[in-house]
Amino acid sequence: MTPPSLLLFLLLVSISSNPSTKATGAGAAAESPPTPTPWPLQFHSLLYVNGSGELSVVDLWYDWPNSRNFNIIQHQLGTLLYDLEWDNGTSFYYTLDDSRHCQTYHFDVGILRPDWLDGANYLGQQRVDGFLCNVWEKVQFIWYYEDVETKRAVQWVFYTVTGGILKWSW
Ligand SMILES: *[C@@H]1O[C@H](CO)[C@@H](O)[C@H](O)[C@H]1NC(C)=O
Ligand SMILES: *[C@@H]1O[C@H](CO)[C@@H](O)[C@H](O)[C@H]1NC(C)=O
Repeated sequence: MTPPSLLLFLLLVSISSNPSTKATGAGAAAESPPTPTPWPLQFHSLLYVNGSGELSVVDLWYDWPNSRNFNIIQHQLGTLLYDLEWDNGTSFYYTLDDSRHCQTYHFDVGILRPDWLDGANYLGQQRVDGFLCNVWEKVQFIWYYEDVETKRAVQWVFYTVTGGILKWSW
């Protein structure tokens, strides 16, 4: 459980829309393209999130063996929100401030598997935030950028179809 520090940069997030759809097109390249590195089973990372101009910093604690994923979301000049996600699809969103707000959601999919990027389409290399990255696209709405040298995630970009609120969940 070495904690790779993932630097991610999200734009809108919704993992609950159609996760089972397979990417189409883009057949196998002649030479075999690189594949995304599976996530460590447990890690802690800090994410900088930009959801359509709304900024937040997220402390992410991914814990696959214990079937949970914990996001501690600090909105810019705003709420500190706790988002605890379980692999059975239940997520609890709550605050610990005076309002003690709490909401439960159910998602049909649980948290992201460590190998959730299997089957993604390789798009080549691109420089992002000063890092040379391999880039993949999955199900036409996730673009994933991984540092070529260290194999750590540098950036994610999500596009949602439905608009809705989001959050990311892995
Ligand atoms: C966040 O994204 C918006 C576009 O949605 C962009 O205009 C803005 O510059 C971004 N902010 C940061 C800090 O990257
Ligand atoms: C899912 O697991 C969590 C943690 O054990 C539990 O609090 C929650 O009630 C469970 N949800 C369902 C639908 O069983």
